[in-house]
Amino acid sequence: MVRYRVELTKDEYGKLQGMVGELQQMVDVGIPAQQMLKRVLILLLAGQGASEEAIIDISGASRSTVYRTKRRFVEGGLETALNGPPRAGMTRPYAKELYHRELDDDACPVCGSLYVKELPEDQKKHRSFHARTMSVFEPKPSKALAKLHTKFGCYVPVTAHSPTWMHRRLAWIAAILKRENGYDCTMWDASGDDGQGFIVTDSDGRALGGCAVRWREGSDEPACWALQWIWVAPPYRRQGLLRNTWSMLTAKYDGIIPEPPYSLGMARFLLSLGSLSEHVKFAARDAIS
Ligand SMILES: CC(C)(COP(=O)(O)OP(=O)(O)OC[C@H]1O[C@@H](n2cnc3c(N)ncnc32)[C@H](O)[C@@H]1OP(=O)(O)O)[C@@H](O)C(=O)NCCC(=O)NCCS
Ligand SMILES: [Zn+2]
Repeated sequence: MVRYRVELTKDEYGKLQGMVGELQQMVDVGIPAQQMLKRVLILLLAGQGASEEAIIDISGASRSTVYRTKRRFVEGGLETALNGPPRAGMTRPYAKELYHRELDDDACPVCGSLYVKELPEDQKKHRSFHARTMSVFEPKPSKALAKLHTKFGCYVPVTAHSPTWMHRRLAWIAAILKRENGYDCTMWDASGDDGQGFIVTDSDGRALGGCAVRWREGSDEPACWALQWIWVAPPYRRQGLLRNTWSMLTAKYDGIIPEPPYSLGMARFLLSLGSLSEHVKFAARDAIS
Protein backbone atom coordinates (compact mmCIF):
# COMPACT_ATOMS: atom_id res chain seq x y z
CA MET A 1 0.00 0.00 0.00
CA VAL A 2 1.28 3.48 -0.86
CA ARG A 3 2.01 5.62 2.19
CA TYR A 4 0.74 9.18 1.91
CA ARG A 5 2.55 11.83 3.91
CA VAL A 6 0.49 14.83 4.94
CA GLU A 7 2.54 18.01 5.13
CA LEU A 8 0.54 21.04 6.23
CA THR A 9 1.52 24.65 5.70
CA LYS A 10 1.16 27.02 8.63
CA ASP A 11 -2.04 28.45 7.12
CA GLU A 12 -3.57 25.04 6.60
CA TYR A 13 -2.67 24.02 10.11
CA GLY A 14 -4.30 27.19 11.51
CA LYS A 15 -7.42 26.72 9.42
CA LEU A 16 -7.87 23.12 10.52
CA GLN A 17 -7.30 23.96 14.16
CA GLY A 18 -9.96 26.67 13.95
CA MET A 19 -12.39 24.20 12.42
CA VAL A 20 -12.07 21.66 15.24
CA GLY A 21 -13.79 23.88 17.80
CA GLU A 22 -16.54 24.98 15.43
CA LEU A 23 -17.28 21.47 14.25
CA GLN A 24 -17.27 20.09 17.78
CA GLN A 25 -19.89 22.70 18.73
CA MET A 26 -22.04 21.71 15.78
CA VAL A 27 -21.81 18.04 16.70
CA ASP A 28 -22.71 18.92 20.30
CA VAL A 29 -25.98 20.56 19.24
CA GLY A 30 -26.89 17.69 16.95
CA ILE A 31 -25.82 19.06 13.56
CA PRO A 32 -24.28 16.14 11.67
CA ALA A 33 -20.75 17.43 11.22
CA GLN A 34 -19.00 14.26 12.45
CA GLN A 35 -17.66 13.31 9.04
CA MET A 36 -16.05 16.68 8.56
CA LEU A 37 -14.70 16.67 12.11
CA LYS A 38 -13.10 13.29 11.47
CA ARG A 39 -11.43 14.50 8.28
CA VAL A 40 -10.11 17.60 10.03
CA LEU A 41 -8.71 15.53 12.91
CA ILE A 42 -7.14 13.02 10.53
CA LEU A 43 -5.34 15.78 8.64
CA LEU A 44 -4.23 17.60 11.78
CA LEU A 45 -2.89 14.44 13.40
CA ALA A 46 -1.26 13.15 10.23
CA GLY A 47 0.30 16.58 9.73
CA GLN A 48 1.86 16.27 13.17
CA GLY A 49 3.30 12.88 12.30
CA ALA A 50 0.94 10.79 14.46
CA SER A 51 0.88 7.04 13.77
CA GLU A 52 -2.03 5.53 11.91
CA GLU A 53 -3.18 3.70 15.05
CA ALA A 54 -3.19 6.94 17.02
CA ILE A 55 -5.17 8.72 14.27
CA ILE A 56 -7.78 5.97 14.21
CA ASP A 57 -7.98 6.02 17.97
CA ILE A 58 -8.35 9.78 18.43
CA SER A 59 -10.47 10.65 15.39
CA GLY A 60 -12.74 7.62 15.63
CA ALA A 61 -12.47 7.17 11.85
CA SER A 62 -12.00 3.83 10.15
CA ARG A 63 -8.68 2.79 8.64
CA SER A 64 -10.02 3.26 5.13
CA THR A 65 -11.27 6.78 5.88
CA VAL A 66 -7.87 7.69 7.27
CA TYR A 67 -6.17 6.28 4.19
CA ARG A 68 -8.59 7.95 1.77
CA THR A 69 -8.40 11.33 3.46
CA LYS A 70 -4.61 11.33 3.42
CA ARG A 71 -4.57 10.24 -0.21
CA ARG A 72 -7.02 12.97 -1.19
CA PHE A 73 -4.90 15.55 0.57
CA VAL A 74 -1.70 14.47 -1.16
CA GLU A 75 -3.34 14.16 -4.57
CA GLY A 76 -5.83 17.02 -4.50
CA GLY A 77 -4.95 19.40 -1.66
CA LEU A 78 -6.81 20.54 1.43
CA GLU A 79 -10.09 21.51 -0.26
CA THR A 80 -10.45 18.11 -1.92
CA ALA A 81 -9.50 16.25 1.26
CA LEU A 82 -12.22 18.10 3.16
CA ASN A 83 -15.02 18.28 0.61
CA GLY A 84 -14.30 15.44 -1.78
CA PRO A 85 -13.37 15.79 -5.43
CA PRO A 86 -15.07 18.61 -7.34
CA ARG A 87 -18.55 17.47 -8.37
CA ALA A 88 -19.41 17.01 -12.02
CA GLY A 89 -22.14 19.64 -11.64
CA MET A 90 -19.56 22.32 -10.99
CA THR A 91 -18.55 22.24 -14.62
CA ARG A 92 -22.12 23.22 -15.55
CA PRO A 93 -22.78 26.35 -13.54
CA TYR A 94 -26.14 27.07 -15.18
CA ALA A 95 -27.46 29.07 -12.28
CA LYS A 96 -24.29 31.15 -12.16
CA GLU A 97 -24.63 31.96 -15.83
CA LEU A 98 -28.37 32.28 -16.05
CA TYR A 99 -29.55 33.78 -12.76
CA HIS A 100 -26.75 36.24 -12.18
CA ARG A 101 -29.25 38.84 -11.09
CA GLU A 102 -30.35 37.00 -7.98
CA LEU A 103 -27.71 34.42 -7.13
CA ASP A 104 -26.30 34.51 -3.63
CA ASP A 105 -22.65 33.74 -2.95
CA ASP A 106 -23.28 30.43 -1.25
CA ALA A 107 -26.07 29.26 -3.53
CA CYS A 108 -25.59 26.05 -5.50
CA PRO A 109 -24.02 27.21 -8.79
CA VAL A 110 -26.04 24.67 -10.75
CA CYS A 111 -29.61 24.96 -9.46
CA GLY A 112 -29.22 28.27 -7.64
CA SER A 113 -30.83 27.14 -4.40
CA LEU A 114 -29.62 28.37 -1.05
CA TYR A 115 -29.24 25.73 1.62
CA VAL A 116 -27.27 24.85 4.71
CA LYS A 117 -25.11 21.88 3.74
CA GLU A 118 -24.92 20.62 7.31
CA LEU A 119 -28.69 20.37 7.79
CA PRO A 120 -30.06 17.03 6.55
CA GLU A 121 -33.52 18.53 5.97
CA ASP A 122 -31.99 21.23 3.77
CA GLN A 123 -29.80 18.73 2.00
CA LYS A 124 -32.78 16.57 1.17
CA LYS A 125 -34.77 19.52 -0.17
CA HIS A 126 -31.80 20.67 -2.19
CA ARG A 127 -31.21 17.22 -3.67
CA SER A 128 -34.73 16.96 -5.02
CA PHE A 129 -34.81 20.55 -6.29
CA HIS A 130 -31.39 20.08 -7.87
CA ALA A 131 -32.46 16.88 -9.62
CA ARG A 132 -35.62 18.50 -10.96
CA THR A 133 -33.70 21.54 -12.18
CA MET A 134 -31.15 19.34 -13.93
CA SER A 135 -33.93 17.36 -15.60
CA VAL A 136 -35.03 20.63 -17.22
CA PHE A 137 -31.55 21.95 -18.05
CA GLU A 138 -30.26 18.61 -19.36
CA PRO A 139 -33.36 16.66 -20.37
CA LYS A 140 -33.11 12.88 -20.39
CA PRO A 141 -35.00 10.58 -22.77
CA SER A 142 -38.53 9.76 -21.63
CA LYS A 143 -40.54 6.85 -22.97
CA ALA A 144 -43.84 8.67 -22.42
CA LEU A 145 -42.71 11.74 -24.37
CA ALA A 146 -41.09 9.62 -27.09
CA LYS A 147 -44.46 7.95 -27.60
CA LEU A 148 -46.17 11.33 -27.88
CA HIS A 149 -43.45 12.44 -30.30
CA THR A 150 -44.45 9.56 -32.59
CA LYS A 151 -48.01 10.87 -32.52
CA PHE A 152 -47.50 14.65 -32.64
CA GLY A 153 -43.93 15.26 -33.84
CA CYS A 154 -41.66 17.81 -32.11
CA TYR A 155 -44.44 19.90 -30.61
CA VAL A 156 -46.32 17.85 -28.07
CA PRO A 157 -49.46 19.78 -27.10
CA VAL A 158 -50.40 20.28 -23.46
CA THR A 159 -54.01 21.36 -23.01
CA ALA A 160 -56.69 21.32 -20.32
CA HIS A 161 -57.30 17.63 -21.13
CA SER A 162 -53.68 16.52 -20.79
CA PRO A 163 -52.61 14.36 -17.84
CA THR A 164 -51.14 16.07 -14.79
CA TRP A 165 -47.58 14.84 -15.42
CA MET A 166 -47.49 16.83 -18.66
CA HIS A 167 -48.74 19.98 -16.95
CA ARG A 168 -46.14 19.45 -14.25
CA ARG A 169 -43.36 18.99 -16.83
CA LEU A 170 -44.29 22.23 -18.57
CA ALA A 171 -44.60 24.02 -15.22
CA TRP A 172 -41.03 22.99 -14.30
CA ILE A 173 -39.85 24.56 -17.52
CA ALA A 174 -41.90 27.69 -16.80
CA ALA A 175 -40.39 27.80 -13.30
CA ILE A 176 -36.88 27.85 -14.74
CA LEU A 177 -37.91 30.58 -17.20
CA LYS A 178 -39.24 32.61 -14.28
CA ARG A 179 -35.90 32.37 -12.51
CA GLU A 180 -33.83 33.00 -15.61
CA ASN A 181 -35.76 36.05 -16.74
CA GLY A 182 -36.66 37.29 -13.27
CA TYR A 183 -40.43 37.17 -13.76
CA ASP A 184 -42.79 37.49 -10.80
CA CYS A 185 -44.73 34.32 -11.37
CA THR A 186 -44.57 30.93 -13.04
CA MET A 187 -46.57 31.13 -16.25
CA TRP A 188 -47.93 27.60 -16.32
CA ASP A 189 -50.15 26.01 -13.70
CA ALA A 190 -48.74 22.63 -12.63
CA SER A 191 -52.11 21.37 -11.46
CA GLY A 192 -53.71 22.00 -14.86
CA ASP A 193 -53.80 25.01 -17.17
CA ASP A 194 -56.27 25.89 -19.91
CA GLY A 195 -53.67 27.56 -22.13
CA GLN A 196 -52.25 25.95 -25.27
CA GLY A 197 -48.90 24.62 -24.16
CA PHE A 198 -46.24 22.74 -26.10
CA ILE A 199 -43.35 20.62 -24.91
CA VAL A 200 -40.69 20.74 -27.62
CA THR A 201 -39.58 17.12 -27.81
CA ASP A 202 -36.99 15.10 -29.70
CA SER A 203 -37.59 11.57 -30.92
CA ASP A 204 -36.05 10.06 -27.76
CA GLY A 205 -38.53 12.00 -25.66
CA ARG A 206 -36.20 14.70 -24.34
CA ALA A 207 -38.08 17.85 -23.37
CA LEU A 208 -35.84 20.40 -25.11
CA GLY A 209 -38.03 23.34 -24.22
CA GLY A 210 -41.57 24.57 -23.92
CA CYS A 211 -43.91 27.41 -24.74
CA ALA A 212 -47.39 28.69 -24.01
CA VAL A 213 -49.94 30.31 -26.31
CA ARG A 214 -53.00 32.15 -24.97
CA TRP A 215 -56.05 33.88 -26.41
CA ARG A 216 -55.84 37.54 -25.46
CA GLU A 217 -58.75 39.91 -25.30
CA GLY A 218 -57.58 43.43 -24.52
CA SER A 219 -59.81 46.47 -24.24
CA ASP A 220 -58.12 48.58 -26.93
CA GLU A 221 -56.45 45.87 -29.08
CA PRO A 222 -58.35 43.38 -31.23
CA ALA A 223 -58.46 39.91 -29.63
CA CYS A 224 -55.75 37.55 -30.88
CA TRP A 225 -53.53 34.58 -30.09
CA ALA A 226 -50.30 35.43 -28.28
CA LEU A 227 -47.10 33.51 -27.59
CA GLN A 228 -46.87 34.21 -23.88
CA TRP A 229 -43.48 32.61 -23.33
CA ILE A 230 -40.94 30.21 -24.74
CA TRP A 231 -37.90 28.60 -23.15
CA VAL A 232 -35.21 26.40 -24.68
CA ALA A 233 -32.79 24.27 -22.58
CA PRO A 234 -29.28 25.80 -22.67
CA PRO A 235 -27.52 22.89 -24.49
CA TYR A 236 -30.06 23.22 -27.34
CA ARG A 237 -29.96 26.96 -27.85
CA ARG A 238 -28.91 28.63 -31.09
CA GLN A 239 -29.93 25.58 -33.10
CA GLY A 240 -33.06 27.11 -34.56
CA LEU A 241 -35.62 25.81 -32.06
CA LEU A 242 -37.19 29.22 -31.49
CA ARG A 243 -37.20 29.93 -35.24
CA ASN A 244 -38.86 26.59 -36.03
CA THR A 245 -41.35 26.88 -33.19
CA TRP A 246 -42.35 30.33 -34.36
CA SER A 247 -42.95 28.98 -37.90
CA MET A 248 -45.15 26.24 -36.47
CA LEU A 249 -47.08 28.73 -34.33
CA THR A 250 -47.68 31.25 -37.11
CA ALA A 251 -49.02 28.45 -39.32
CA LYS A 252 -51.28 27.09 -36.60
CA TYR A 253 -52.51 30.30 -34.93
CA ASP A 254 -53.53 32.88 -37.48
CA GLY A 255 -52.29 36.37 -36.60
CA ILE A 256 -50.40 35.25 -33.48
CA ILE A 257 -48.27 37.92 -31.82
CA PRO A 258 -45.24 37.50 -29.54
CA GLU A 259 -46.15 38.97 -26.19
CA PRO A 260 -43.68 41.37 -24.54
CA PRO A 261 -41.55 41.72 -22.45
CA TYR A 262 -38.84 40.27 -24.71
CA SER A 263 -35.50 38.94 -23.59
CA LEU A 264 -32.45 39.95 -25.60
CA GLY A 265 -32.40 36.69 -27.58
CA MET A 266 -36.11 36.95 -28.32
CA ALA A 267 -35.83 40.59 -29.37
CA ARG A 268 -32.94 39.81 -31.73
CA PHE A 269 -34.91 36.96 -33.22
CA LEU A 270 -37.98 39.14 -33.76
CA LEU A 271 -35.96 41.88 -35.43
CA SER A 272 -34.49 39.27 -37.78
CA LEU A 273 -37.99 38.57 -39.10
CA GLY A 274 -39.25 40.41 -42.14
CA SER A 275 -42.87 41.02 -41.29
CA LEU A 276 -43.48 42.57 -37.92
CA SER A 277 -46.03 44.99 -36.60
CA GLU A 278 -44.68 48.40 -35.60
CA HIS A 279 -45.76 47.64 -32.08
CA VAL A 280 -43.59 44.49 -31.83
CA LYS A 281 -40.63 46.17 -33.57
CA PHE A 282 -40.77 49.01 -31.10
CA ALA A 283 -40.87 46.69 -28.07
CA ALA A 284 -38.03 44.56 -29.51
CA ARG A 285 -35.81 47.60 -30.13
CA ASP A 286 -36.62 48.79 -26.65
CA ALA A 287 -35.53 45.42 -25.16
CA ILE A 288 -32.18 45.62 -26.92
CA SER A 289 -31.36 49.21 -26.04
C1 LIG B 1 -34.59 33.23 -26.43
C2 LIG B 1 -34.56 31.73 -26.73
C3 LIG B 1 -35.97 31.18 -26.66
C4 LIG B 1 -33.97 31.50 -28.10
O1 LIG B 1 -34.12 30.16 -28.47
P1 LIG B 1 -33.17 29.45 -29.54
O2 LIG B 1 -33.77 28.16 -29.92
O3 LIG B 1 -31.79 29.42 -29.01
O4 LIG B 1 -33.23 30.47 -30.76
P2 LIG B 1 -32.85 30.13 -32.28
O5 LIG B 1 -31.70 29.19 -32.33
O6 LIG B 1 -34.06 29.76 -33.02
O7 LIG B 1 -32.33 31.56 -32.74
C5 LIG B 1 -32.99 32.31 -33.71
C6 LIG B 1 -32.32 33.67 -33.81
O8 LIG B 1 -32.61 34.44 -32.64
C7 LIG B 1 -31.49 35.26 -32.31
N1 LIG B 1 -30.99 34.84 -31.00
C8 LIG B 1 -31.39 33.78 -30.26
N2 LIG B 1 -30.75 33.76 -29.09
C9 LIG B 1 -29.94 34.82 -29.08
C10 LIG B 1 -29.03 35.35 -28.12
N3 LIG B 1 -28.82 34.76 -26.94
N4 LIG B 1 -28.36 36.47 -28.44
C11 LIG B 1 -28.55 37.08 -29.61
N5 LIG B 1 -29.38 36.62 -30.55
C12 LIG B 1 -30.07 35.52 -30.29
C13 LIG B 1 -30.49 35.03 -33.39
O9 LIG B 1 -30.75 35.98 -34.42
C14 LIG B 1 -30.84 33.64 -33.87
O10 LIG B 1 -30.42 33.39 -35.16
P3 LIG B 1 -28.92 32.84 -35.45
O11 LIG B 1 -28.62 31.77 -34.44
O12 LIG B 1 -29.01 32.34 -36.82
O13 LIG B 1 -28.03 34.03 -35.25
C15 LIG B 1 -33.65 30.98 -25.71
O14 LIG B 1 -32.40 31.60 -25.67
C16 LIG B 1 -34.20 30.95 -24.31
O15 LIG B 1 -34.93 30.04 -23.94
N6 LIG B 1 -33.88 31.97 -23.49
C17 LIG B 1 -34.38 32.08 -22.13
C18 LIG B 1 -35.86 32.33 -22.10
C19 LIG B 1 -36.30 33.52 -22.90
O16 LIG B 1 -35.65 34.53 -22.88
N7 LIG B 1 -37.43 33.37 -23.58
C20 LIG B 1 -38.00 34.42 -24.41
C21 LIG B 1 -38.79 35.39 -23.61
S1 LIG B 1 -40.41 34.78 -23.26
ZN1 LIG C 1 -28.15 22.47 -6.65
